[in-house]
Amino acid sequence: MPGLFDPYALKGVTLRNRIAVPPMCQYMADEGLANAWHLGHYASMARGGAGLVIVEATAVSPEGRITWADLGLWNDAQAAALRPVVSAIKAGGAVAGIQIGHAGRKASANRPWEGDDHIPVGRPNAWETLAPSEVAFGKGLGRVPRAMTLEDIRRVQGDMARAAERARDLGFEWLQLHFAHGYLAQEFFSPLANRRTDAYGGSAANRARFLLETFRAVREVWPAHLPLTARLGVVEFHGDDEAMLAEAIAMLDRMKAEGLDFVDVSLGFNTPEAVIPWGPNFMVPTAGRVREATGLPVTTSWNLARDPREADALIREGRLDLVTLGRPFLDDPHWPFHAARTLGLPDAAARTLPPPYAHWISRYQ
Ligand SMILES: Cc1cc2nc3c(=O)[nH]c(=O)nc-3n(C[C@H](O)[C@H](O)[C@H](O)COP(=O)(O)O)c2cc1C
Repeated sequence: MPGLFDPYALKGVTLRNRIAVPPMCQYMADEGLANAWHLGHYASMARGGAGLVIVEATAVSPEGRITWADLGLWNDAQAAALRPVVSAIKAGGAVAGIQIGHAGRKASANRPWEGDDHIPVGRPNAWETLAPSEVAFGKGLGRVPRAMTLEDIRRVQGDMARAAERARDLGFEWLQLHFAHGYLAQEFFSPLANRRTDAYGGSAANRARFLLETFRAVREVWPAHLPLTARLGVVEFHGDDEAMLAEAIAMLDRMKAEGLDFVDVSLGFNTPEAVIPWGPNFMVPTAGRVREATGLPVTTSWNLARDPREADALIREGRLDLVTLGRPFLDDPHWPFHAARTLGLPDAAARTLPPPYAHWISRYQ
């Protein structure tokens, strides 16, 4: 079996290793525009040696931002501002990915370090939130959203497709649809948020409809030779998770038949009442079940092996196709380089860093 530092090929794309940086919102944009912060941040993730760097949740419409400081991709100025970020990721030797999505009822929030709650209506940066139904998330995100009309649904699906086109034209090579974490798509999927009585609510097939149609709209514009992937919450740790997982697998089966290439197995985050058993690798068995049932290659995140030997084992034992590390990369953007050293792989370590770094670091030990 291949290890953490063996290349990974999917469709027309080859990652230099099996380490991925997941989307991580920086909440540092104005008007959805990438700036010097994003350039430095993404450049350092890529130079540090990850095989894949996925740009943070990028909103497909203004009301789809989690906070006013999210990145956006609903206009040409935002696309132009992201262009240097794509170049910087590629210059660092990583494959450039992006996550696109809509925050639904969790939109219009304060930045995490400024409260992580809804901005009261009437204040600057507060806007009307949209969701499948007039059901609030709860706790600090307690604002009741407006239930989307069929026209709203079509418009957001079109926005997703247009953002995918912009991402394609920018040279992103890995697209991740944000179908997770209690944002709009995940809200449609969950009976906790979706109380609709039309074709988009009720049965599992109806609750999957928004996601499937969105997937199809994006599939039409995203190139066949590049990975089209999704991040989906498949368990909630609240209520009947076996039923949720079965519904998720059934939907992923359909998406796979229509061209889904890869899935990042994640959490629903549809209720503040979930009791999540945080712990090392706690999502790995669930990811394995999705992989086995659907035949799709998978990754997951959430406290994955911090010890590189364990990360390597997750790949060698065939439990994950990619190891995805978020906070460890914020802590140490050179995580892959240090991991290769720990694994006693000097060649891999050298390959992990671009020559201007590797050449000198190897002489410094
Ligand atoms: C600062 C920060 C921002 C995040 N933003 C996003 C995001 O934009 N989209 C997303 O799907 N997950 C987001 N997440 C979740 C991460 O992608 C990842 O799943 C999570 O941090 C667990 O992995 P870890 O334990 O290796 O950090 C974010 C996490 C952090 C810490």
